[in-house]
Amino acid sequence: MPRYAWLYVPKRASYNPRDSGEIMTQRTVVLGVTGSIAAYKAADLASRLTQAGVEVLAILTRSATQLIAPATFRALTGRPVAVEMFDVTNPHSIEHVSLADAADVLLIAPATANTLAKLAQGMADDLLSCTALATRAPVLIAPAMHTAMWEHPATQANVATLRARGARFVGPVSGRLASGGRGAGRFAAVEDLLGETLALLGRYGDLTGRRVVVTAGGTREPLDPVRYMGNRSSGKMGYAIAEAARDRGAAVTLISAPSSLRAPAAVTRVLVETASEMRDAVSAALSDADALIMAAAVADYAPAAAENRKIKKTDEPLLLPLTRTADVLEVTRGRPAVRVGFAAESENLIDNARRKLTEKALDLVVANAVGGPNGPFDTDESEVVLVDSREATPLPRQAKRATADTILDRVVALLGSS
Ligand code: CTP
Repeated sequence: MPRYAWLYVPKRASYNPRDSGEIMTQRTVVLGVTGSIAAYKAADLASRLTQAGVEVLAILTRSATQLIAPATFRALTGRPVAVEMFDVTNPHSIEHVSLADAADVLLIAPATANTLAKLAQGMADDLLSCTALATRAPVLIAPAMHTAMWEHPATQANVATLRARGARFVGPVSGRLASGGRGAGRFAAVEDLLGETLALLGRYGDLTGRRVVVTAGGTREPLDPVRYMGNRSSGKMGYAIAEAARDRGAAVTLISAPSSLRAPAAVTRVLVETASEMRDAVSAALSDADALIMAAAVADYAPAAAENRKIKKTDEPLLLPLTRTADVLEVTRGRPAVRVGFAAESENLIDNARRKLTEKALDLVVANAVGGPNGPFDTDESEVVLVDSREATPLPRQAKRATADTILDRVVALLGSS
């Protein structure tokens, strides 16, 4: 029976959370929203967490209700929203204790200077501050206020006190403020808050204590100062794997060739450009890794020499000498315990994947059929076949995040048997 029985809505028996983008079921975030103008962004955060399968129990302070209505959070989270300390309609007699116990993470976003001061002092004069005092869950705080208030020594001292007690902070960042000026004090990006929260929720996941190295994107080999040889990899699959591993508790290093995707929160991202930079970064990251997942599309050939000056056109055909690059999986053979490669193939998908499995000494190959002028690149879905030494298992066409989690199910099993 879940701890928060009166809020429990049973899921359908046939329900597969991964099909609908839910990645974090049976986890509860108590979301404290305080009276900063950024409170409207907390609605988006509540919605994104709910879509990820997290149960969100919102507490609004009185001042927050001046800026955004409890009904907004009620509708977005599908759960009751708490404001008053002594609400006689609530089935729980001591609500701050039940909310404090229900929390897997207490997320206070946005947090005003006043809230930081109250938390630092251990005050307990409303539902949110009582809950913060009563909970044993990790506390994640996203301050949002005017620059002068943020930089004030009193606020900075409160932040230092809270940090010393183990609270984590996301932001504030610098940028445009509601007051019209620019400076530090802006509410962190919802994307980053979501990532940091999911990472904290995943702290007891099946990859806790593991170090996972993931590569992503397509390498670029320079031809001259303005041109490069590249490929069409978007990086979406590798980034999805990095986020999924993070959400299952792993310490993740994401080695990324150029990609337009933003750095996932709570992941160490190393940016590289060429195949040789990729090889060096992977070799360095492997020293204490448990698993390597090579989702990057690494160039097999590079121009023999990059010109210092822009190559000028002539009427003659241009022939470029190319040399082989190092194969990262070859160079790292035998390391780490679990090795996963990808195979992009336009023909003989399974046979080629099996050959790569053996030649590159891999535990698993994720085989991806490519074809047609547009290929399956830069899409949010994938349809792959998982090939290991025993069998080839086709996965359905599904969100890359769902594919990422299925790949990680295999990695977890392989780590258990390694
Ligand atoms: N790979 C690598 N280093 C390279 C090229 C590829 O580590 N220089 C890795 C990829 O990250 C992928 C796997 O090897 O995990 C297979 O990559 P793929 O491009 O499908 O195959 P290749 O080995 O390059 O072989 P081919 O081009 O003949 O298909």
